[in-house]
Amino acid sequence: MAKPNENTETAGSTAADAAAGDAVTMEKIVAMCKRRGFIFQSSEIYGGLASTYDYGHYGVLLKNNVKAEWWRSVVQERDDMVALDAAILMHPKTWEASGHLESFTDPLVQCEGKCKKRWRLDHVEPNDKGELVCPQCGGKLGEARQFNLMFETFMGPVRDDAARIFLRPETAQGIFVNFKNVMQFARKKPPFGIAQIGKAFRNEITPGNFIFRTREFEQMEIEFFVAPAEAPEWHQRWLDDRMLWYTDLGIRADHLMLRPHGEDELSHYSTATSDIEYLFPMGWSELEGIANRGDFDLTQHAKFSNEKLEYVDTATGDRFVPYVIEPSAGADRGTLAFMVDAYDEEDIEGRGRTVLRLHPRLAPVKAAVLPLVNKEGMPEKARAVYEQLRQRIPAEFDTGGSIGKRYRRQDEIGTPWGVTIDGQTMADDTVTLRDRDSLDQVRMPIAGLADELAGRLEQPWKSPKLG
Ligand code: GAP
Repeated sequence: MAKPNENTETAGSTAADAAAGDAVTMEKIVAMCKRRGFIFQSSEIYGGLASTYDYGHYGVLLKNNVKAEWWRSVVQERDDMVALDAAILMHPKTWEASGHLESFTDPLVQCEGKCKKRWRLDHVEPNDKGELVCPQCGGKLGEARQFNLMFETFMGPVRDDAARIFLRPETAQGIFVNFKNVMQFARKKPPFGIAQIGKAFRNEITPGNFIFRTREFEQMEIEFFVAPAEAPEWHQRWLDDRMLWYTDLGIRADHLMLRPHGEDELSHYSTATSDIEYLFPMGWSELEGIANRGDFDLTQHAKFSNEKLEYVDTATGDRFVPYVIEPSAGADRGTLAFMVDAYDEEDIEGRGRTVLRLHPRLAPVKAAVLPLVNKEGMPEKARAVYEQLRQRIPAEFDTGGSIGKRYRRQDEIGTPWGVTIDGQTMADDTVTLRDRDSLDQVRMPIAGLADELAGRLEQPWKSPKLG
């Protein structure tokens, strides 16, 4: 189960120092997301629904790429993992067994002064006098009460306790209740894991920081089942693997850290948890949690369902309840981290440009095909090159505005390669290939272009922000 009072944004001097060299702020990311159609406020025409967001075209493509890279790394490239897509609505007993009904709570306080706002107690900083008062109006805060974060609804037409169900607050439980099915039908035995991506819902008291903490979000979770004695070793392996995933996809290593949870922070099921934290504009904050959940979940579900949830070795007769290592990441939080890390501003011959230096595999569009001018057969030629390219890689064809303006637009959505069709193309079937980061331009024949770019997508990549 998720620990609701997960690390709060702890902007310290280290965060400020490390972020000092960066142009990025959350305001710039939010503005860029809106300007370029990545992410919008939900229900905006009605004034918006607080802390709820809709993904536009480029946002969908980017988040899909983040999720595809996760699938590739945790399922496609491994022998010991299988996929699952469980329902959001689950039997209500699930949440009794998991402990969510009882303990998935945050301490809630309400301002008794002017503004009457509600706060999560552990997010309220003491004032100069060391008192906890309302962060908005300075009013007195009332008694804290525990507030359950699960969204509830009713199944069927009758609104009574028997029909009460919950929107899942984590995807993990869908995996645990399918443990037996998967073990039988996927013919797996520990060590093996189940991976799932899906929506989760939490009635957060203080959502915020754009898509960092919202009430509806997507998780990318793995439950990895191992023999109890092997759990510490697998925990370490997953910590290493998951850190590497972020750095391989271009996040700067010095903007990532592993933070082991203190004893007082551990969730009730966990014997050890470490968070991968990223240096967001508001400071170091959790990106992914990697927990050793022991046998808590399978034991609890076995107890509540009367099903045996264990592994039996048919050769030796040995049986055990596997321990679980859980790397649990947020797809939205990951998408935010990739955007923040990639965001850059620079001055090119007196003109500013904003550029999203995304790993090419994450970039929503890989290549933009741009006719230099909208005449002399260039748009038609460009269209033909684009038709060829898009069979192999996500490409875009753009004829609107000056070439400089079109490049700037592509830079801002992170397109790694610009393909320009010019007068020479009409003569010899070569194009100019422009690199988003170095701005280098090389000439290449149209014939080899798709192979060249598809090949580049498979090559290791290093963020140009690393120098
Ligand atoms: N099954 C374990 C679990 O849910 P968690 O630390 O509560 O653990 C895992 O959540 C990840 O889900 C977090 O590291 C974060 O990336 C994402 N996440 C959690 N709450 C979120 C929220 N309110 N908004 C966006 N992402 C969230």
